[in-house]
Amino acid sequence: MVPGREQGNLPADVSSFMGRRSQIDAARRMLSETRLLTLTGAGGVGKTRLALRIAQQVRRAYEDGVWLVELAALAQPELLTQVTAATLGIRDRTRRPPLDVLVRYLADKQMLLVLDNCEHLMDACTALIGQLLPTAAGLRILVTSRQSLGIPGEHILRVPSLSLPAPGHTPQLSKVSDYDAITLFTERAATACPTFTADPGSLVTVVDICRRLDGLPLAIELAAARMRTLSAECLLERLDDWILVLANSSGSAPPRHRTLRATIDWSFGLCPTHSHQTRSVLTHPDRRVGRRTDTPHCLKRHRHRRGAVRLFNQARKEAEAREQNLESHVHTHHSVGCRSGIPATQQHRGRWNGADVSRG
Ligand SMILES: Nc1ncnc2c1ncn2[C@@H]1O[C@H](COP(=O)(O)OP(=O)(O)O)[C@@H](O)[C@H]1O
Ligand SMILES: [Mg+2]
Repeated sequence: MVPGREQGNLPADVSSFMGRRSQIDAARRMLSETRLLTLTGAGGVGKTRLALRIAQQVRRAYEDGVWLVELAALAQPELLTQVTAATLGIRDRTRRPPLDVLVRYLADKQMLLVLDNCEHLMDACTALIGQLLPTAAGLRILVTSRQSLGIPGEHILRVPSLSLPAPGHTPQLSKVSDYDAITLFTERAATACPTFTADPGSLVTVVDICRRLDGLPLAIELAAARMRTLSAECLLERLDDWILVLANSSGSAPPRHRTLRATIDWSFGLCPTHSHQTRSVLTHPDRRVGRRTDTPHCLKRHRHRRGAVRLFNQARKEAEAREQNLESHVHTHHSVGCRSGIPATQQHRGRWNGADVSRG
């Protein structure tokens, strides 16, 4: 290690980070007691962001650094070992199996590995971790995944949505910072629309928006980005057409966050009065579209939804391979799905029209 220089590859924050004090404290405590900690939770709830925050805070404890192995884009589980080795900068010109090389390299290291977005590589991650932990006493692993890995000794920290005011309560402006979901929305909205400021008039609407989005950071960021062109009132009104609003989001979100998968996850749980209708439209795009009785307003909505259906189908194709991979591993209910009343077994088999359960 170069004296005075920390090792690792943690990216710098590109946007502000809200709250999570208690989860960070819990994770730090757990990491001091266990060598494998998995952050679980719905897609878009903030697992990756939290893992990076935790990793930043503990990095000084690891002489050989904290290393982020970003797995969201890795479609081939058999490449997990090579990707991990490449991330660590290991170069091996011999013919030794990559796993041997990695095991040997890590054997005497004091290191934290962050394996991010593991849900579509459960077998491969379980196998790799099972090989590494017993052979590298100074190694700790922080995993993010929608589901826990089920490895003996694994500690699990469930990541909740960002905090919201109690139902029916609108906080005073001076107390907004007590609620991370509201703070996230107002900050991101102000970035999208520099003239936006939450005032007592708009606060009720903003709180409503965040509530409707269940405090899910991904959904809040996508919605807040629409403040570039919409007022808060319009946005709230249009949340009923959530597919339209969020599917049109682009911005700097990674491609996997631009798909409808995550929004579908939370929307089914969040909009009970619309979820069945929306799901029916997604499942049978033509059934509700273009009926003679439709008003122009309805037709406009249907057109938007048809666009959304196309996007959804695209996302579904991407997700299918990973879902199959996941099937044999799923033990737990997916939180938002549970709230939507869809039995876990159905969700995980993708029977509700193949919405991705594998993204992290
Ligand atoms: N505590 C937070 N503060 C600010 N932004 C957050 C926070 N948690 C998540 N986000 C943002 O929400 C989006 C989704 O978070 P991410 O960590 O990728 O979710 P997950 O890994 O659970 O799918 C990202 O753009 C991320 O920066
Ligand atoms: Mg993630």
